[in-house]
Amino acid sequence: MRVLAVASEVFPLVKTGGLADVAGALPAALAREGIAVTTLLPGYPAVMAALAGGEAALAIPDLFGGPARLLRAAHAGLDLLVLDAPHLFARPGGPYAGPDGRDWGDNPLRFAAFAAAGARAARDMAFDAVHAHDWQAGLLPAYLAAAGSGPRTLFTVHNLAFQGQFPAALFPALGLPPAFLATEGAEYHGGVGYLKAGLWFAARLSTVSPGYAAEITTPEGGMGLDGLLRGRAAVLEGIANGLDTAEWDPAADHRLPARFDARRLGRRAANRAALRARFALAEAEAPLIGFVGRLSWQKGVDLLLAALPVDAQLALLGSGEPGLEQAANALAAANPGRVGVVLGYDEALARLVYAGCDLFAMPSRFEPCGLGQLCALRYGAPPVVSFAGGLADTVVNANDAALAMEAGTGFCCAPGSAPLLGAALRRAGALWRDAPAWAALQRRGMGQDLSWARPARRYAATLRALA
Ligand code: ADP
Ligand code: GLC
Repeated sequence: MRVLAVASEVFPLVKTGGLADVAGALPAALAREGIAVTTLLPGYPAVMAALAGGEAALAIPDLFGGPARLLRAAHAGLDLLVLDAPHLFARPGGPYAGPDGRDWGDNPLRFAAFAAAGARAARDMAFDAVHAHDWQAGLLPAYLAAAGSGPRTLFTVHNLAFQGQFPAALFPALGLPPAFLATEGAEYHGGVGYLKAGLWFAARLSTVSPGYAAEITTPEGGMGLDGLLRGRAAVLEGIANGLDTAEWDPAADHRLPARFDARRLGRRAANRAALRARFALAEAEAPLIGFVGRLSWQKGVDLLLAALPVDAQLALLGSGEPGLEQAANALAAANPGRVGVVLGYDEALARLVYAGCDLFAMPSRFEPCGLGQLCALRYGAPPVVSFAGGLADTVVNANDAALAMEAGTGFCCAPGSAPLLGAALRRAGALWRDAPAWAALQRRGMGQDLSWARPARRYAATLRALA
């Protein structure tokens, strides 16, 4: 069976978050299930440079105002189709924003073109099914529906907060039938909703954890789309993400000062020392809390800054909302040697945080799945998380009852509350001082099956049902 996956970012070529990790790792896991995945992604400069050419597979003489080609290429075990459309993607900056951090004004056209090219490839290259990800690929099943033939689509939502919502005035430029701008179609709140279109037109829907699948069908978690999602509940499923356990392996990670595994936890001390040095933290008998992620309201960074226990240290890596960046810097300035902040995106440094911190904080207000806590579990840093979406699905709260049964892999608290987060961090800090109990907790997390094997079986069954 041949599946066309369509994602706007794919690790290791281009990544701003967990979507890239998923799109980069799922193909190899699906190959083990007998499914051959080809992944379509935009030809951003970094992608074109890494691939250095590629064989032209399909020419599209006019794709939304310029010539485009689909290039076939292979990279890091991935079978790729790259949308080479210089008028849309050959520009500096990130996948969605310019160097100034502002979203490209023509994003609606860039990702309509991406979806339209995906639909072309799906039909012309006779794929058996399509796996489209997030709003950037949301119009794809609409283009297939407009064509009236072609494979069926599984549409996976990684985050309902990013909806690709644009003014209705744009609609005529998209080349979709006028009748599609309707409640029973791509129309959403008087505009065009790319995510909405995917949720409406795709044959099957999924999201990235069972908990989030349940949350998004409620008014509290549905971000306005819960009614539609309740109506389609019969074709919606939640499949928790796995982790590429070869890519994320503390025993083989050459970017770490010291490699380790569950039997050699003592070696983590060298990573912690390097982490302290990198974040200008003092040597101290204090639990070192790590944070890696987008600095956004979703991630609850403000709660962490407010709740940091006085006897703990913090190493924070991330970038995002200016107000949160300033708040993090201010806390570091007020607590030299105790709070360290690095603003930016740094793959190697993220690994040092996972491998060197004692506790990993991820107090998200909502979290579709989360990969940070999976990386932390794998790297021996018990996570402190909120009971939300995929965090609640992947971390077992080490309360007294769980510990008595030698269960528990981290610490959980209700989302959205700094006092409750503070209590969870103090509870974790107390257990950290009990070295044997702590090592047992670390080993349980490291021993969990976090791989893609199980989720890939679920995706394979769903994709097979489409063909
Ligand atoms: P989201 O996709 O919502 O941002 P996830 O937890 O699913 O959150 O995935 C985030 C991924 O991006 C993880 O692999 C994490 O290690 C990585 N990441 C996030 N912020 C940074 C950063 N500042 N530097 C390096 N890696 C980061
Ligand atoms: C999104 C979500 C995150 C999830 C990731 C990959 O970015 O915010 O929770 O882990 O997608 O599915």
